[in-house]
Amino acid sequence: MKRWNGLIDEYKEWLPVSEETPQLTLQEGNTPLIHLTNLSKEWGINLYVKTEGTNPTGSFKDRGMVMAVAKAKEEGKSVLICASTGNTSASAAAYGARAGMRTIVVIPDGRIALGKLAQAKMYGAEIVAIEGNFDEALNMVREVAQDKVALVNSVNPYRLEGQKTIAFETIEQLGKVPDIFALPVGNAGNISAAWKGFKEYAERKGTTLPVLLGVQADGAAPIVYDRVFEEPETVATAIRIGNPASWGLAKNALAESNGAILSVTDKEILEAYSLLASSEGIFAEPASCATVAGIKKRLDAGLLAKGSTVVGVLTGNGLKDPETAILVNEDKPLLSREHFDAFLGSLKVGSI
Ligand code: F0G
Repeated sequence: MKRWNGLIDEYKEWLPVSEETPQLTLQEGNTPLIHLTNLSKEWGINLYVKTEGTNPTGSFKDRGMVMAVAKAKEEGKSVLICASTGNTSASAAAYGARAGMRTIVVIPDGRIALGKLAQAKMYGAEIVAIEGNFDEALNMVREVAQDKVALVNSVNPYRLEGQKTIAFETIEQLGKVPDIFALPVGNAGNISAAWKGFKEYAERKGTTLPVLLGVQADGAAPIVYDRVFEEPETVATAIRIGNPASWGLAKNALAESNGAILSVTDKEILEAYSLLASSEGIFAEPASCATVAGIKKRLDAGLLAKGSTVVGVLTGNGLKDPETAILVNEDKPLLSREHFDAFLGSLKVGSI
């Protein structure tokens, strides 16, 4: 079996790297593309998910972060800074630790999932919790980036370079370009990066292009409604963003791909969240499940052709947000010894 040495090594011909670029890796990328057998049958499409939650820090951010941090190091910077709804901060903190750099993360106080906060702490980042939301945090960190300080949010072009590799992997694993490529949209970096990847692959290899499907949460849907959301709100805290930095790039990608962007309610997100885990054995965080909810909504509206090959990106691991998982499942009372015996009896052969 070939050893996987991470994205920079695997895709160096596609990335702005040279001999001088540090060989940084936590062996990110090469994430599974899983066929959803049950949902495909039920929905009459050929549905796959790219499980980005299997990346080293549990989200797609590692693809971009490995590049941003390697380039920051190459350019002689010593400090990393970012604003984050959680996953970027976890990833920056991990790659910062790996590269021996100081990492500062600015997060909306009380509004990031517990697992993500635990990660930033464990990797040794300096955490600044602000009263405002992500959009305000991003404005703050944009001001402090300078000579020695690298801003590693997706406004850093190296982030998008790393993240475009999801397109290459998808085509290589599927053996073709999917008809539809669906993903959740927050700050809009990932949809822009994926499109860049599909276009570059098409240019070099003569492949076709997919149609993009972007999904936002109803309470944080600036691109869908074409207006800034001053107070974005959604259970999918990862995409609780009201004024995306890559808004223009995303609109462009959607237009070029003849794609669409739609929003789904928190209820629809949580239904997809439970459905994916209970019917396919895949536990992805709520923001990721907006993808699945969006696909379902397009199908129900008759806007997605039966038989299409659809790849949905599950951007982050479900374990990142244990609190939501516990909340959506009703508490079952603990079984006493007596009840347990009765319960065991009910499982005896012949009775189930
Ligand atoms: N899904 C997850 C799990 C995310 O963490 C994010 C963004 C997105 C989707 C949206 O991606 O911003 O490129 O459109 N999280 C950022 C963060 C904002 O700080 O971790 P996007």
